[in-house]
Amino acid sequence: MNDFNFHVKPIGLMDMLYFKKMVPARQKALSCGSAEPFSAERGANKLAALLHPKEQRLTIAEVIRHGADAKTFVLTGEPLAPFRAGQYLSFRLTIGSSVLTRPYSISSSPKWASEGKYAVTIKRQMDGFASPWILDHWKAGDAVTASGPEGTFCYEPLRDTKRVIGLAGGCGITPFLSMAYAIRDGIEDFELTLLYGSRKECDILYHGELAKIAKETSKVKVVNILSDEQKEGYEYGFITAERIRAACGGEVCSVFLCGPAAMYAFVDKELEKLGLERKYIRHELYPAPASPAKIPGYPGIANGTLTLSVRLYAETKNVPMRADETVLTALERAGITVPSRCRGGECGFCRTRVISGEVFLPEALDHRRMADLAAGYIHPCCSYPLGNLSIEVWPE
Ligand code: FES
Repeated sequence: MNDFNFHVKPIGLMDMLYFKKMVPARQKALSCGSAEPFSAERGANKLAALLHPKEQRLTIAEVIRHGADAKTFVLTGEPLAPFRAGQYLSFRLTIGSSVLTRPYSISSSPKWASEGKYAVTIKRQMDGFASPWILDHWKAGDAVTASGPEGTFCYEPLRDTKRVIGLAGGCGITPFLSMAYAIRDGIEDFELTLLYGSRKECDILYHGELAKIAKETSKVKVVNILSDEQKEGYEYGFITAERIRAACGGEVCSVFLCGPAAMYAFVDKELEKLGLERKYIRHELYPAPASPAKIPGYPGIANGTLTLSVRLYAETKNVPMRADETVLTALERAGITVPSRCRGGECGFCRTRVISGEVFLPEALDHRRMADLAAGYIHPCCSYPLGNLSIEVWPE
C-alpha cells in the first residue's frame, strides 16, 4: 500500500504479451546504436545547452534608477536562454571572501530574450546583504554571471483559470510586469488583474509602464492600493478578501502571490476567507529568512557559533557556522561554492547529505522528495543548525 491517491489498472495477460513482443525490437535497436555519448555539437545537445545553460555571462548595458532604493539592470548576452514570464535568474556574486547566489525575477518581456536582453529590477532590502551591495556596485559595462532562467511561477493553461488575479507587494511586481508584457506581446494568452500594494504613491514601481500596458491591452488591469496614504485615483488599505473577490467578478480565478513574507502571512488569511481551493493559489518562492527566530516551530535550542564539518571529496574542512543562519550561508561565507538557485527550498540544486547532526527546516519551505528525506538529505538554503553538523557536499 502507498499513500498516493490514484488508481493503477493491474497488468493483464495482453499487456504482458505486448511487452514480450517489444523486447526483440528494442534489442535490435540497441545493438545497432553506438555506445559513444552524443557529442556536444549534436543538434539536440546544442539546443539543450541553449535552453538550459548552467550559467550565462552577461554584461550590464544600462542601469535605470527607480527612486532612491531600486534599480533596473538591462543585461545583454549572446545567445540568451529563452524564458517564461514569471521565471528568475540566479546571480553568482563575490562579496569579500563570500561566494553566494541570489535569485531575482526577470522583469522584461520574454520577447527581449530573443533580442539578446533581459531586465531585472532589484530593491534595496535594508537588512539585506546582497541587494545593498548590488545597488551600490553594479554599473553599466560590468560583467555578471547568472544561471539560466529557473522557476515555476508561470501561467499554465492546463492548471490555471483564464483570468488570473496577481497579488503583488513592493518589488514582487517584477514577475507580473513580465507577464503583462508577455500578454501584450501575444506570447501568453490569459487575463491578468493586478492588485498591487504599496505604502505610498512614490513606492509604486513601474507605475507608468503598467498603466501604459493596461491601455495597450484590455487583458491587463492594474489596481494600486496604498496602505500609508489616501490619494485620489488609488484605493486605500490592504489586499483584502473583498478586493480579491471583486477582482474575480464572481468567477473562480487562479491567484498568484509575489511579495515580502509579511504580505503572504496577511494575504493567506484573506484567501482562506474566500474558501478557494489550494490548487488555484500559487506563491512565488521567497528565500529563507536570514534568522529563524520568528519561524513557527523553530525550537531555538542552539546558539552562538557552531562547527560545520564539510566533506569535500576526500578532504574534510571545519568552518564556523552561526546557530541563527542557514547552512548555505555558512558554506558561502567560508567560500565553499555549492550549487544553489532558488534559496527557498524548491529547486533542489543545493541538495546535500547529512553525515551527523540535526537541522530545522521550516515546513513551508520543505519541498524535499520522500526518498531524500529517508536518505538524510537536506536543502542547506533553508536548513538552520540545531547543533554541530557534518555534511557531504559536491562543489559547483
Ligand atoms: S537553492 Fe533551491 S532548494 Fe536550495
